[in-house]
Amino acid sequence: EEGDAKAGENVFKTKCAFCHTLQKGAAHKQGPNLNGLFGRQAGTAAGYSYSAANKDSAVVWGENTLYEYLLNPKKYIPGTTKMFHGLKNPQDRADVIAYLKQSTA
Ligand code: HEM
Repeated sequence: EEGDAKAGENVFKTKCAFCHTLQKGAAHKQGPNLNGLFGRQAGTAAGYSYSAANKDSAVVWGENTLYEYLLNPKKYIPGTTKMFHGLKNPQDRADVIAYLKQSTA
């Protein structure tokens, strides 16, 4: 699916923002700040204390990895902690990925 960043902003606000910030330099919450996510290796946001499973996953975040991860984070990275249950709707996933991509440069 083609992602719509505008719709993705709403997905982020309603499903992700409780645990994540996106603005550059914003504080970590329960989850890590997601600024600059694209092209970055999992578990590398400075100053955030990740699970070993996330850190050791060797995943590089991009469209395909995020699309699979967000469907079911605990299946994609077994042992990841406290991450939510996932976004089942494929359009919601594509949209939030488009939003994450345009908001992180
Ligand atoms: C980790 C995205 C919702 C808590 C992550 C990571 C991504 C992500 C990409 C990995 C970051 C990295 O490796 O640097 C999202 C998106 C969400 C969402 C797009 C909404 C669709 C949530 C929610 C919570 C949460 C609702 C809290 C209930 C966490 C935690 C981690 C994490 C605790 C670290 C996991 C670990 O260290 O194993 N999230 N997240 N996330 N997220 Fe989320």
